[in-house]
Amino acid sequence: MTVAEASKAEANTVEANTAEADNKACIEFKPGLEGIPATKSSISYINGQKGILEYRGIPIQQLASGAGFLETAYLLIWGHLPSEKELVEFEYEICHHRRIKYRIRDMMKCFPETGHPMDALQASAAALGLFYSRRALDDPEYIRAAVVRLLAKIPTMVAAFKQMRKGHDPIQPRDDLDYSTNFLYMLTEREPDPLEARVFDVCLILHAEHTINASTFSARVTASTLTDPYAVVASAVGTLAGPLHGGANEEVLNMLEEIGSVENVRPYLNSCIERKAKIMGFGHRVYKVKDPRATILQDQVKKLFEKLGQDRCYDIAVELEKAVEEKLGKKNIYANVDFYSGLVYRKLGIPKDLFTPIFAIARVAGWLAHWKEQLAENRIYRPTQIYTGAHNAPYIALGDRSSQSPS
Ligand code: CMC
Repeated sequence: MTVAEASKAEANTVEANTAEADNKACIEFKPGLEGIPATKSSISYINGQKGILEYRGIPIQQLASGAGFLETAYLLIWGHLPSEKELVEFEYEICHHRRIKYRIRDMMKCFPETGHPMDALQASAAALGLFYSRRALDDPEYIRAAVVRLLAKIPTMVAAFKQMRKGHDPIQPRDDLDYSTNFLYMLTEREPDPLEARVFDVCLILHAEHTINASTFSARVTASTLTDPYAVVASAVGTLAGPLHGGANEEVLNMLEEIGSVENVRPYLNSCIERKAKIMGFGHRVYKVKDPRATILQDQVKKLFEKLGQDRCYDIAVELEKAVEEKLGKKNIYANVDFYSGLVYRKLGIPKDLFTPIFAIARVAGWLAHWKEQLAENRIYRPTQIYTGAHNAPYIALGDRSSQSPS
């Protein structure tokens, strides 16, 4: 065989192998990676058929009725419920790291006031990495400090941007207030009623973790490169911002306002179905029954409205849930967590565009748990792809290209 024939034979073998690999990948390819395990994890568990959600094996209902958000965060991140001493220390540390550096505040002041708070949060979370840049991923103290800083400072950054975009100074965190009370205080400069703070804390618990969803996957991919935890959280925040993920709760309120009245619910729904438009706050990749978090939240909404008065959108929401169940229940489309969370936040006086940043405040706990888990058994993510483009395409010199341009 000549050299030319040998190299042609080799090229054919490579091509055949590539084609075979592509075909194999083709058989296994699932858009959106639906049903493909991307990791092993002991952090949370969902049974979508039965509507079960557990954090470290504990049913979400038990945590929502008995635990606090920071206790839940501890459970997720360190893998066990804290003792009283461990919890007190954890809360103390977080309480004393709530303030953000003046230079971060100054940077945030330069953000356009019309910018979305999720973009502001993503940029600010990434900026933390500039100040705490040591990357000692095998040092437990570094890990602990990063966990504490992120849990402590993200709420302060969300509240600070809310003030600064109106030209006001941020409201300083108060060490005498617990996590949720302090956050609501920083938003409004008003100490919330204990029921408001508790309902908000429950919302944080419900949003803290949810297996390998898009933002958590994004966090794990970023973590797998061994970058710093601030980059991990910033990349997850960017992923959470989209309307098919965390952004849905904001869209739910827009939709309820657009519907405007109980009478308009069914015509609105019919028109969505005709146009094949998604109804925000419904459907889930994993749950084929009502999201258990939505059921817990609905209870919280009721408690809040009993104390603080009704919300005009609540009746519309209840009617819409009924109508969607009638029309789309056969396709397993039911309310998800985002359907009721917006109603809670609005009752607490929180502006709509902060709903997703609040989701992020809670989900930081889950992202950090996944960051730690990823580091414990790391392999950089590097999936494959199915190439669908051309091969051996000619390079056409710039001056000769016009005739090749698509019409
Ligand atoms: N309204 C109307 N139809 C829907 C909806 C919905 N909200 N969700 C799914 N469907 C239909 C969809 O049109 C499709 O029908 P068909 O088979 O006839 O084409 C079928 O159900 C399957 O939908 P899909 O989009 O392929 O399902 P998915 O698993 O890819 O999407 C989802 C899951 C959450 C992205 C989707 O349900 C959705 O876009 N919901 C609205 C946005 C939303 O509420 N997002 C928050 C999710 S919960 C918070 C979180 O965990 O992030």
